[in-house]
Amino acid sequence: MSFPVKEIATKPFEGQKPGTSGLRKRVKVFQQEHYTQNFVQAIFDSIDAKGQTLVIGGDGRYWSPEILHIILQIGSANGVAKFIVGKDGILSTPAASNVIRKYKAYGGILLTASHNPGGPDADFGIKYNVGNGGPAPENVTDKMFARTKEITSYKIIEAPAVDITTIGEYTFGPSKVSVIDSVADYLVLLEGIFDFPLIKSFLSSHDDFPVLFDGLHGVTGPYAKGILVDALGLPASSIQNCVPLPDFGGGHPDPNLTYAHSLVEVVDAKDVKFGAASDGDGDRNMIYGKNAFVTPSDSVAIIAHWAHVIPYFKDGVKGLARSMPTSKAIDLVAKKKGLEYFEVPTGWKFFGNLMDAGRLSICGEESFGTGSDHIREKDGLWAVVAWLNIIAAANKDSPNKLIGINEIREEFYLTYGRSFFSRYDYEEVPSAGAGEMVAHIDKALDTGSLNGTEHKSASTGETYTVSGIYNFEYTDPIDGSVSKNQGQVITFSDGSRVVFRLSGTGSQGATVRMYVERYLEASAGKEKLMSEAADGLKGLIDVALELSNLKKFLGVEKPTVIT
Ligand code: G6P
Ligand code: ZN
Repeated sequence: MSFPVKEIATKPFEGQKPGTSGLRKRVKVFQQEHYTQNFVQAIFDSIDAKGQTLVIGGDGRYWSPEILHIILQIGSANGVAKFIVGKDGILSTPAASNVIRKYKAYGGILLTASHNPGGPDADFGIKYNVGNGGPAPENVTDKMFARTKEITSYKIIEAPAVDITTIGEYTFGPSKVSVIDSVADYLVLLEGIFDFPLIKSFLSSHDDFPVLFDGLHGVTGPYAKGILVDALGLPASSIQNCVPLPDFGGGHPDPNLTYAHSLVEVVDAKDVKFGAASDGDGDRNMIYGKNAFVTPSDSVAIIAHWAHVIPYFKDGVKGLARSMPTSKAIDLVAKKKGLEYFEVPTGWKFFGNLMDAGRLSICGEESFGTGSDHIREKDGLWAVVAWLNIIAAANKDSPNKLIGINEIREEFYLTYGRSFFSRYDYEEVPSAGAGEMVAHIDKALDTGSLNGTEHKSASTGETYTVSGIYNFEYTDPIDGSVSKNQGQVITFSDGSRVVFRLSGTGSQGATVRMYVERYLEASAGKEKLMSEAADGLKGLIDVALELSNLKKFLGVEKPTVIT
């Protein structure tokens, strides 16, 4: 049977600008006639995928099967030789990155809007990743955007739909389609990185160390079952909300203390020793035990500190990195171990260049992203299994005392001191007010009016002296590209700092993030080092709010989310 290529006339839509997280819009926007087709054709116009292999997968959110079919139609008409598709259209973002790398695909199209809610009235997203398994760089996404503005037609092949619910080899018009198990390759990857036998033996001999993973009805459910239950032998009750749902069960699949309340409640009620959650597309993670929250900045630093127990790092760690607002805990590990380390702007893409150049092994962001150079995306379950590996190794050397999350944290703080860290989010505030606040801080930066000024916290009586203000700027050491205005940093004479940054991922109004960090020496002792972050940071938060005049500019009393 022959399938002619049809050329369909169309007109450009406004605003099809993909960020590094792809094009994210409401489902209803993607459902407009020609809207999705235009964007998909613009992808193919910006890459050279003729005769190549492309990976397609996503978080399984509402409208995914429909869009997957459109990608096959347009991709095939544009000459793609082979598609590798996750069963049911499912591939977590880290799993997709792995499949692209493992099968040396030309690139991949990921159908996800990460942690944004799903469903007919919520969000959808289309993201293009390149051959190294990482998000397309800006020069590629800029090309796509330019094409969307001038598009006059798109090409399709009308072949019968492929049964993506069944693993197997198919054809779609002139193209081959391989529907693969969504989990198998990822499980092989993690088994090659971590000490599975050690973790399994620890877990099977410790009834006193119950584990709970919450998939928040996102994509990680089948992965958690394959890894935690089938491979590591945990009981089925160790995973919850692990059936992916197109609307994530109506929830907001983002692993933090506010949105992952389903995990927090059960961990607290049942005294679960090790709890974890991941987001809609599986690249974020949160590690949480009863009275034992691991802030992501500490999590990545602790993984770096313990890297020697992880087989993947047995030949050493190349370098470490964090995003600018992330606390400096990981810098301390790098200094102690004599490793190179980097401070990059917010966004995982900045790590990719360093990894490809062989200069970075472990990195993370305060926004619940942790990972390594095993792929080119952050990796939620990687972080969860890394923690289990570390805990299993620590317990091997401690036969008489159970080492859990807090014992690991304590040892870390007693070695390096503690960087108390917290982030206040002010979501969907008026853009004008946010802009005025930024201008207010910029003015102090320009005139130096705040330098050397003393500020007393009303609640704690502590005094903080401003030592400097700057706007964070980054020059990529590999390609020399410069990223300006990446956040305003106010530093204090005791080494504390406060960062103000506008979110790049919100969909309405502006979202302001305030990050506060205060360092306490290891010599302060166990009790102080292990105190609540909120207590350790109270005075600094008062001062940060006063200096920025945030409440007045944004017209709000309280943050939406505190992490
Ligand atoms: C996405 C990126 C992360 C980044 C985060 C920042 O999740 O993948 O690398 O840290 O956005 O989000 P924000 O809302 O703070 O701009
Ligand atoms: Zn995500």
